Formats: sequence, C-alpha cells, structure tokens
Amino acid sequence: MPLIRVPKSWEIPDREITPETVFLNRRRFMTNLIAAGVTAAMLPLAGCKNNAATSKEILDKTATQAYNGLSRNPKFAQVDRPITDEALATKYNNFYEYGGTKSIWEAAQALPTENWKVEVGGLVKNPKTYDIDDLYKKFPIEERVYRFRCVEAWAMVVPWVGFPMKLLMADVEPKSEAKFVRFTSFYDPKITKGAGVFSQFYPWPYTEALRVEEMANDLAFFATGLYGRKLPKQNGAPLRQVIPWKYGFKGAKSIVKIEFVEKQPATFWNTIGPNEYDFEANVNPEKPHPRWSQASERIVGPGNSWSWETRPTLAYNGYGEYVASLYS
Ligand code: MTE
Repeated sequence: MPLIRVPKSWEIPDREITPETVFLNRRRFMTNLIAAGVTAAMLPLAGCKNNAATSKEILDKTATQAYNGLSRNPKFAQVDRPITDEALATKYNNFYEYGGTKSIWEAAQALPTENWKVEVGGLVKNPKTYDIDDLYKKFPIEERVYRFRCVEAWAMVVPWVGFPMKLLMADVEPKSEAKFVRFTSFYDPKITKGAGVFSQFYPWPYTEALRVEEMANDLAFFATGLYGRKLPKQNGAPLRQVIPWKYGFKGAKSIVKIEFVEKQPATFWNTIGPNEYDFEANVNPEKPHPRWSQASERIVGPGNSWSWETRPTLAYNGYGEYVASLYS
C-alpha cells in the first residue's frame, strides 16, 4: 500500500484526527519520502538473509553473564507450544539500527552497553536517572515464558528474565495528567548505521509508546535477560520492553529514555506506515495487515521458513484473560 497519496478536498485533514506531535513528525517524514519518491511498500518490516556463522558460533560469540538463583514465575511457566531454541531466538532478529535483515547479531555487537543509564521523566513526581546496575538490583528479577508474535506473522516462545513494568512506574509515580509513556532506544548514527539506503528517511531514534494502563498491566515486562542470562546485544541489551499481547514492534530494544506524557506520541513504525503498523497493535487474527493475513503464524524453527509449522493466530496472542478488559 503506497504511503504517499494526495487527500481529496472532502477528506478530514490528518491534523484534525491525529494529535499534533504525531502529525508533525509524520509530515516531516513524508516530506522526506516524497522528495525521494519512496512508498511504504518499499519500506517492508521484513527481510531474511542466511548467516554463514553456525548457531553455536553465535551463542559463543555473544555469550552473556548467567543469572544466579533465578526463579520462574509459576503463572507464566509454560505456554501451549515448546520454547524456541535459544540459538534461533538470538540469531533471527529485527533490529533496524543494525541492518534490515534478520542477521544483525554481528553488527549489533557495536552497541556500547557500558555505563548505561535510563532516564525516566516527564509527568512524574519522582524523575530519575537509573544506572543500569542499580536498576538491575532494585527490582526483583524473575523468569517468564511468553509467546512472542511479530507483525510479520512469525512467532517464538521466549523465557524472558526481568521485572514487571508496573514496579518502575510505582517508583517514579506518574502524575494524573500522564496518559501515555514513550520509550526511546539508543541512537548514535556513528554506531547505529541502519538498514541500508532507506534508513536515512526513518524517523530515528526508534520509539514506541503505550497507554499508562497498558504499562500498569501485570503482563507488561521489562526484559533484562533471556534463557537464564543477561540480554545479548542483538536482543536489545541491556533493557527492552516485552508486551506479549501486542506485535513485537511495540517492544523497543536498548532503552535509554522513558517519558510519561499527556498526548499520544509519535512512534517509529506508526510514523513510517500508519495503515500498516497501528498504534495499538494488539495481536488480532481477524485484522489483516494490508499486505498479508494475520490469521495464522509460522513458528520459528530450524531450516527454511517455508518448512516451519503454521498455527492459527490467537487473539491478544492468547493473553485475552489478562488484557481484553483494557479494550472493552
Ligand atoms: N527495537 C529497536 N530499537 N529497533 C528495532 O528495529 N524491532 C522490533 C522490536 N524492537 C526493533 C525493536 C521488532 S519489529 C521486533 S519483531 C522485535 O524487536 C524483535 O525482537 P527480537 O530480535 O529479540 O526477536
């Protein structure tokens, strides 16, 4: 679906139906695209390239510190399908700051995670800048096995390590005017070289956002690790969001900033393709993506994607009992 179209005179202008911050960001982005003659269909959220390194080499080269004494939350101990092989979850990634294919694990090793800070501010009573090691110690760490569903219709099951987002929220105490939360990923064009020729038009840095009630939901999780160890860089070290009832793009990786705001903020994929990547982005088998069906999903496994098992997509990715009431 092309992104660039001239609205008819009887249509409502974007600025009347979209909060201003979203509108202004999108207009700047679209102006750049028009100048270059690029359409949304040319900016796919897909791409796959085989990597010469074996899974074992990748695991060895991106080994991170193991957690001691970790316990799995019994409420989220297993799902209706096996846990994805760790070697696949750490080699088949989306991280556009490091490239537009799934094989970004090597390029992502450039991410500098030393002395990492996470700034939390905006409409909160206690703005704070957490040093990542203090943040790791401050909140009780647990393991949760979640289904993970990408908007591209592939799915995994990952044992994440981390803590519920609502704990951080309670620590900074959002003010009553705060309605949304924006998450910003690390960005430095000297390091995050992007996804080829089109990435100069992308609205960097990568940002995502939730409603505050969504962040307060028990399922919303900050991951600090996976498979019993600290997050490897390609999976979004040292801190990422995991929102299991939404498509994977709603979970920003390598977070440096969290801001509580009043108006719905502009976000990365929603700015690029508002019809393709809606703000809410709840997993929904009945709402097709404009370019493909969401009725089923391919379970990431060994071999080529055409040989992967296909399963019906679950509404809210199977988490309706926890989250459906947020949308009633
Ligand atoms: N966060 C940043 N900063 N950059 C990205 O490109 N991709 C998103 C999300 N978070 C992305 C990101 C998408 S589209 C998906 S599906 C998941 O990360 C992929 O996470 P994984 O590589 O750990 O499977």
